[in-house]
Order: sequence, then structure tokens, then C-alpha cells
Amino acid sequence: MPTPEHLILRELLAHEPDWVSGSVLGRKLGTSRVAVWLQMKKLRDAGFVFAAQRSHGYRIVTRPSAPHAALIETQLKVRPRNFTLVALDEIDSTNDEAARQLATGRATPFAVVARRQTNGRGRLGRAWHSEANGNLYLTVAFRPRVAPERMGAFTLWMGLNLCELLANFAKVTPGLKWPNDLLLDGRKVGGILTEARVDADQIRDLVFGLGLNINSAAETWPGYLGRAAVSLAEVTGAPLDFNRLTAAILGRVLLAYENFADGDYTKTFADLWHRFDVLRGRRIVLLEGGRRHPGTVTGLDDDGALMLRDPHGRTARFRAGEVTIEKPAS
Ligand code: BTN
Repeated sequence: MPTPEHLILRELLAHEPDWVSGSVLGRKLGTSRVAVWLQMKKLRDAGFVFAAQRSHGYRIVTRPSAPHAALIETQLKVRPRNFTLVALDEIDSTNDEAARQLATGRATPFAVVARRQTNGRGRLGRAWHSEANGNLYLTVAFRPRVAPERMGAFTLWMGLNLCELLANFAKVTPGLKWPNDLLLDGRKVGGILTEARVDADQIRDLVFGLGLNINSAAETWPGYLGRAAVSLAEVTGAPLDFNRLTAAILGRVLLAYENFADGDYTKTFADLWHRFDVLRGRRIVLLEGGRRHPGTVTGLDDDGALMLRDPHGRTARFRAGEVTIEKPAS
């Protein structure tokens, strides 16, 4: 059900850069110009800046830089039945919040986005730096009801879709480092944390968590991240429209999930993999359960496991692990 905020934003965005009169907005809302004015105030309080002229009406000048649910929803091009979104100022972890909401029976798919996380989590029990710095902390929750074996390539498929989306949206050249790192210029721009709860033989529910460095400035990274992290804005040289990009990402995630669920993904997986994989032919060290496995990456198997040829010429498959790329000898 669109709220008055949705209706106003839909009109203003559809007519950009033109003006929309207060009486047109009033008609769309079925209310008076005074009621429109009150809604505009609410939007201003959330970070919108409008130009307002008695003779012309309203026009958006600046959009909020923090997550804004109605602005994301208004720009969302893919909208499965039942889909809902919650935008929060602060939460411990969007993955944890999604898991709590799943436990209360909330209909899927739904998304949780937050301006800041107090306990953002990364893979392998690490923390995910989650300040209110213009970066994205997003979780989308699903109930796939399929056997766990069928989800093998899920995170890779989502990562590949995100690479393509970012390449088109921000005109950058991202790469995917198996299994879940999004890279730009060899540095980490995003990470994925997929978590599932499994019943006897079925995935009961699944949360797809994405941390993406969108607008943070280099000097705001804590020292321990050093030069390992990068944001899109650092590479493009200008801040990106946070809510427009979030809507594009969310739309792509929802679509990519459907393609995965109905098996359609197999048609384009290999093409995307060849385009965005950064490991093929590279010498790496894979850390798995405390053991080091040096070798050269030869490819992926059908389940998304990484194939690694060891220095003796034997090839092994790995379903999980942490990859360090060896620098070529100079
Ligand atoms: C990684 O590369 O280690 C994965 C990082 C995933 C971080 C995201 S931010 C949104 C969601 N909520 C979390 O607590 N973690 C994921």
C-alpha cells in the first residue's frame, strides 16, 4: 500500500527536473495543500531538500544520503509479491535482525537496511566495520525450501550479479574473489555473508547479507583496514546516490534470487564468471580449517567449489576457505 510519502516521491521523481504543483500533489493524495505541506516537512526532516515556489510547486534538490525506505521502494524496479523493506537508523546486525524477523514468521522476501550496525559481522567470525559513513549494510531474507546441496553456487551467483550491476551503474570494473569478496582495483569494496537455517533436509530460511562501501572516505577507515578497503566513491571520484544505488542493488538481488531458485542462472553463470572472476590462473594460498593449501586456481566445479592445482600437479576442490593471492615475483 503506497503511503503519502510514496505518492509524493513517485510524482516528484517522475517529473524531474520539472516542478510539480502543490495542487497536483494534493489531488494524488486526496488531501489539501496544507496536508501536502505537512508531508513535505516530514520528508525534509528525513534529509530531502526541496525547492518550493508558489507559482511552480515543488522540486527535489537534494536526496537523503542515509537509507530512506520510501525513496528506495519508489525506485525499485522489481517487486515480488509480499516484498517489504525496513530501513533502520541503527541495529546490531541486519543479518541478525532479519533472522529475528524470520523467527516471528514475517513473510518473505523482505529486506533490512541500516545506516549503521553496532555488531556488523563478516565471514569466519570477523567483525564488519559498520559506521554511519555512507556505506550500505543490507540483508535480504528468503525461504527457499530446497535441499542445502542446491544452494552451493548461491553466494557466487549473487556476487557475480552485483559485479555486473556495479559495472553498469557506476562505470567501474569490479571483480569477484571466490567465494564472497567484491574487489575494485584489487581492494575490497564489498563482502557477502549468506547464512541459512537448515531443517532435516531443507533450507528453512536464508539471509543474504551485503556490506558495500559506497560513499565512505579513505581517511575514515580504521587503521587495521589500511589500504585493504576501498569505496566506490573513492574510485569514481564523486559520491553516489545512496538510495538509488540501494534500489538498483535490491532489485538485482531479488531478480537474481528468482533466477537461482528456478534454475535459470545456469544459462549465464559461466559468462559472468569468466568476466568477473579474479582468481583463474592465479597462484594463491587457500586457508581452510587452519591448513594452508598453496596452488594455482584452475576453475570452478558445478557446485561452485574452487579447483586448485597443488605444486605436485594434483587438483583438489574446496567448498570454503580464505584466499590470499600471491604477488607475482618481480
Ligand atoms: C565478509 O566479507 O566477511 C562479509 C561481510 C558481510 C557484511 C554484511 S553488512 C550487512 C550484513 N549484516 C552483517 O552483520 N553482515 C552483513
